[in-house]
Parts: sequence; structure tokens; C-alpha cells
Amino acid sequence: MDTTKLATRFKSQFGTDPVFIARAPGRVNLIGEHTDYNDGFVLPIAIDRDIALVGQPRDDRTVRVYSTDFDQHSEFSLDHLEHDQQHEWSNYLRGVADVLQKAGHTLRGFDAVMKGNVPIASGLSSSAATEMATIMAFTAASHNTPSSLQIDGARAAQLAQRAENQFVGVNCGIMDQFISSLGRAQHALMIDCRSLGYELVPMPAGITVLVVDTTAPRTLAGSAYNQRRAECEEGARRLGVPSLRDIAVADFERRKGDLPEVIARRCAHVVHESQRVLDAVAALKRDDVATFGNLMYQSHESLRDLYEVSSKELDAVVDIARGQPGVHGARMTGAGFGGCAVALVQDQFADALARRMAAEYPRRTGRTPNIYACVASDGASWRAV
Ligand code: GLA
Repeated sequence: MDTTKLATRFKSQFGTDPVFIARAPGRVNLIGEHTDYNDGFVLPIAIDRDIALVGQPRDDRTVRVYSTDFDQHSEFSLDHLEHDQQHEWSNYLRGVADVLQKAGHTLRGFDAVMKGNVPIASGLSSSAATEMATIMAFTAASHNTPSSLQIDGARAAQLAQRAENQFVGVNCGIMDQFISSLGRAQHALMIDCRSLGYELVPMPAGITVLVVDTTAPRTLAGSAYNQRRAECEEGARRLGVPSLRDIAVADFERRKGDLPEVIARRCAHVVHESQRVLDAVAALKRDDVATFGNLMYQSHESLRDLYEVSSKELDAVVDIARGQPGVHGARMTGAGFGGCAVALVQDQFADALARRMAAEYPRRTGRTPNIYACVASDGASWRAV
């Protein structure tokens, strides 16, 4: 993102130069879908698209933010944090302020201009990026003061998730905030969503991560997501385990006949998907991209047939990608019901795949896709400007 332009914008809004820039990336999950809230494993990358806040600390308890994307101002006091229905985007900032304070941190106000290039509401976690960028902005604003914020990356992700769960009111897992916080350039991040332990896994050389936004509305996402969560909890309860993380594939296969049919299918997805993450990481470590890609196809089929969160548009993207030269694997990514799919393709075939997708997807679905080649990038950070 062009930070000089943002600094100029700040100056025209607030009359002075900014002193910090805080930023955090969106994400794409390579494999491990709907496993995070079951205490399982995930393998996302942070992408080279982020949300940035350029700003300057204030000496009072006011936060004033101008969003260039929404062309709106929002102002709030750190002493009265309430929902703002006119400026929905500002609730991510308000929510973060609220949870940070409830966790005992002392915050300092700031003025900022906010801008992002993570597509909004398309499944690449612009919300998590906004939350993490806000934590970075509060960290920057308190730098060199007696109440300087020092929150490690995993803890920051937990607080951002709490802001989304409790203030914004979306019952997400930890994956999006965690990768936005702790992603690393040229690496995927395997996260153990129970212990919050993690491992950076180098991305294979010569591979492009192509993200295809179906541009189909994600209408059912919220309600179906919560329903799936409830079905997983019911499965764990019936199996007598604290969460689906606690049952091994072989045990599950022996006992799945005891479960109601729908619950059995939901649980089968989760139990096998979490194992697929471990297998995918092992494959990456031995540079076996073919096996990795096959696991992606299996993941997609499982999300489509067992977990039932795919859509005809997502299926079309995977189907088109599958037949193309140089493609190792493809799957839907994120919560599903619209949003994006991801394909791993040899660099030299990436343009051809994008062209093919741009031509074939509209024929099959009547929609125009947005296509992004993404690069694994660094997680949230701030610096002085
Ligand atoms: C959304 C949620 C994540 C995760 C995925 C599904 O992105 O925010 O926590 O549950 O769906 O894997």
C-alpha cells in the first residue's frame, strides 16, 4: 500500500503529519477448514493485502478515525464504548478498545486514517485484519509512555478474537486473528488451535497461490456457521470427548455408527480434516506438492459433501482449476457459502489459469470472479513514519 498517500491524507484530515503506521494482513487458509473451533489444526498464510492505520497519539481518551474506503469519520471516547450502527466498520476498533481495557490495559487515544486493500466481506478476513491493525495502532500510540502496551502475538490474536465474539457479535474461531498476527513472509503457519502452539512451514518455491473470489453473496454464512458449531459440539458430547480434537481418526471410524447421520458426517469432516493438516504439513516439509494438492481436493470434497458449506460457485472454481496444467490442488477457503477458493499452481501456469478462470467461471455461473495472486506475507506490525 502507498503509505506516502496515506500520510498526505492524514495531513489533510487532521492538519499535522502522522507519526505511526500500523498494519495487519488478511489471510487465505490453505487447509484445515472448520477445525479451529474444534481445537484442531489449521494451515493458513497471511497475504500481501492489509488494513493500515496511519496516525498520531492524542493526549486524551478520544479516538478519531477517518476510513477512506467508506469515506466516513467515526469518533469515540475510550470511556464510553458503544456500538455504532451508522459506522459498522468502526465497531472492530471499538471492540478492540473494549477488550483491551477489560483485560486491564491502559489505552491512549489517537487520530488515524484507515485504508485497506483486503476485499471486504469476501472471506479474506478483512475483519481480523482491522482488529489486529487496531491493536498495533494502540501499541504505537502508547509507545514510550509509562503504560506502553506489550502484548505478544498469540495473546493479541486471542484479544482480537474476543472483540469479534463479544463486541461485534460474530462467533468465529481463532484462525483469522492468529494468522493476521503471526504470519511470516514465504511461510504458512500451522496452528494448534487448542494449545495455540504454532510452527512456520516454508512455502514451496515456484508455486503461486491463486485466490478466486466467487463474488457470490455470503447470505447463509452466519447462521449456518453457528449451526455447524452446534453440530460439532453435539458430536463431541455424544462421543464423550471435550472436543472433536480428542478423538483419533481410527477411533472415530469405529464409533461413528453410534451418531445420528448428519452429526456423523459433520464430525467425519472435522476429524479427517484436522489429520489432513498434519499430513499436508508433512508433505510440504518433504517438498511433495502433489500430495499437498491432493489433500486440498479431498478437503474440498469433504466440505462439499460432509460438512455442506460449499456452493455451486465454489465447486465451479475447483472444478475449472482441476483440469488445468500446472495446478496441484484447489479448494474452497474460509467459512464457505460463497467467498473464495484457493488454488496452488506452478508459477509459469498461473497466468493461464487466471485467464481460463476469467473466461470459464462466468459461463458456468453468470458471475464475474475477482482473481488475486497472493504471496505469503508478514503478520501485523507498526513502525514510526
Ligand atoms: C471463518 C472463521 C474462522 C474459521 C473459518 C472456517 O473464517 O472466522 O475462525 O472457523 O471460518 O475454517
